Amino acid sequence: MLEISDRGRTWLLTGPTVGYAVHLTEDDELIHLHWGARITLADAEALAARPDPAYRPFESQLDGREEYPVEGGPRFVRPALSVRTEERRGTEWHFDGYEVDEGAEGAEGAEGAEGAEGEDGELRLRFRDDGLTVTLHYRMRHDVLERRVTLANDGPDVELLRADSATWTLPQREGWRLHQLHGAWAAESLLTSAPLTYGDKVIGSRRGHTGHQHLPWVALDTDATEERGEVYGCALGWSGSWRIAVAHLPDARVQINGGAGYDDSGLLRLAAGESWTTPVFAGLWSDEGFGGASRAWHAYQRAYVIPDADRDRPVLFNSWEASYFDISEQQQAALARRAAAIGIELFVVDDGWFGARTSDRAGLGDWTPNTDRFPGGLKPLADQVHALGMQFGIWVEPEMVNPDSDLYRAHPDWVQFQPGRARTEFRNQLVLNLAREDVQEYLWERLDTLLSSAPIDYVKWDFNRCFTDAGWPGEPYPQRLWVDHVSALYALLDRLREAHPGVAFESCSGGGGRIDLGIMSRTDQVWTSDNTDPLDRLAIQHGFSQLHPARVMAAWVTDSPNTQLNGRASSLRFRFVSAMAGVLGVGGDLTEWSEEELTEAAEWVDLYKEIRPVVQRGDLYRLRPPGGGLSAVQYVRGDEAVVLAWLQSQSYGNPAPALRLRGLDPTASYECRDTGEVHRGAVLLHHGLATGLRGDLDAKVIRLRRI
Ligand code: DGJ
Repeated sequence: MLEISDRGRTWLLTGPTVGYAVHLTEDDELIHLHWGARITLADAEALAARPDPAYRPFESQLDGREEYPVEGGPRFVRPALSVRTEERRGTEWHFDGYEVDEGAEGAEGAEGAEGAEGEDGELRLRFRDDGLTVTLHYRMRHDVLERRVTLANDGPDVELLRADSATWTLPQREGWRLHQLHGAWAAESLLTSAPLTYGDKVIGSRRGHTGHQHLPWVALDTDATEERGEVYGCALGWSGSWRIAVAHLPDARVQINGGAGYDDSGLLRLAAGESWTTPVFAGLWSDEGFGGASRAWHAYQRAYVIPDADRDRPVLFNSWEASYFDISEQQQAALARRAAAIGIELFVVDDGWFGARTSDRAGLGDWTPNTDRFPGGLKPLADQVHALGMQFGIWVEPEMVNPDSDLYRAHPDWVQFQPGRARTEFRNQLVLNLAREDVQEYLWERLDTLLSSAPIDYVKWDFNRCFTDAGWPGEPYPQRLWVDHVSALYALLDRLREAHPGVAFESCSGGGGRIDLGIMSRTDQVWTSDNTDPLDRLAIQHGFSQLHPARVMAAWVTDSPNTQLNGRASSLRFRFVSAMAGVLGVGGDLTEWSEEELTEAAEWVDLYKEIRPVVQRGDLYRLRPPGGGLSAVQYVRGDEAVVLAWLQSQSYGNPAPALRLRGLDPTASYECRDTGEVHRGAVLLHHGLATGLRGDLDAKVIRLRRI
């Protein structure tokens, strides 16, 4: 709901539980009034009528109160907007009007994502500074407020040095804590929390992609728990370099700026007639603790961001850990037969099927099947896979090139490079300059041809190195390559999705290096991490679930001992129950699995298919976090509940503690579908359920149905 005061100077956006209000003063200062529980327009107006803060020497009257602080004038905070023309730097704007657009697109305009009936339009507040029009966009979807900014120029050239998507202002409280998801390759999305102290806390990526080091998300609270208390969260929808800066200002106010680009050294230059809209920086308030905040984020993404989120993702097999680069049609076909026998629904051939790609040293960029390995192209294998009743998928890494490739030999200038400097290689590869139209057209033509050449249902889209030498010789404003690369990637994905509507896409970047709301609006699931050790995965999944739902979180069961990472041995049971917390996949070398293992695997896959709607589309309750002993999650959908529980290790023979369940009706009874026992809802909620887990690395699935 959107309400506007009589004089059109106070705006109040309201979601099911949240309220957000801003006010324009007589001097055209846009002041943030409120973000938190629902309030009325009269409350917002009362807030607007409060006296300004008392004058304090050396302090700004605006800092910490402004909705979108621009550079220049009486301000000392980090500006959300910093622009310059030939003549001058900074912004001095005046209000130019507002409108409500009923038909506006939301977070990156997710194709196919289903919106809610009767949702509000987008509020747009327009400001002008000579030739530059700055429009602030607001759209409430569930309890998530999507914000972004459009910069339109009709004057002399203007350079956007920094153009954040939003500044979020928190109410004045004491003792803020900051929560973030940090990581590294094979250790993504690890949740960490610390008190917020004075000054700026900056996270981001200067790598050209979202990065393994931080998910673009922060949460702040003062005293929340998993179940209770106020939590504020902000998440950015951008798949390139980015920055979120949390500022604890001298007067104890807290503001959060976020947007594309890490530095303030220039994003784009706009000539007359050009405009740019920033990515969405979404904000969520919840007073139901971290669990409630996560459920609200998940519901929002399923409704508005993730394409076709009402359709369950299939159980896939991926060949990477089974075969690495040693693949052929025959050998993949043998894996496919075993995969089909255990109930796999989608068979994905990973790296190594194209060009001279028999190792990571050659072939990237040459997107035609390797004829030694696939003499008839991909179609014969795809047909066999389909005949086995599975969908067929392939791996690609379109934004990259090996110097040892036909593509690079033909077009050495198609990569990002600085003239006269070494071209830095990582994993023996260079980054294509996707900002170039000829590169965009080449990739479109290659990928479109590939998807038309064989019945391909699924594309795993990888990105295995960061930007280093982001130069573009001959281009007057090479800096734009950083933003344009991401826009070109989005445009390419959009075009491919439109031309091949039956094809699903997975976002991968050496595991979880490109996970954000932007890529999520164009891909069907993400590869969470290259770490497939089922124990490490519990912590990674715990962090991931703070923001993103199980519906997109791909997780594979691989071989034991773990080949890729740590050699840890674990039972099939533990590996399956760990991977069943997301979109289940299998990535082990099935040709080496015994008959007993294959039979057991088929049973787990069957069980997963049964609980899948509850896992992928239910509400998530994190019952106990991972970390030594018992951890568990619970999903609830309608009358069904599923608990996945893991015991890392048992000490002194102590029984694992009972699990207090959540999200059930205390007045109802629930039948355990595994034991036939009937439990009273109130008992499960208040006293819990014994799991019977024992020893080390034990795990269990518990299915409950309301009777
Ligand atoms: C990195 C991915 O995360 C892996 O799953 C695999 O696809 C390799 N790239 C292939 O090179």
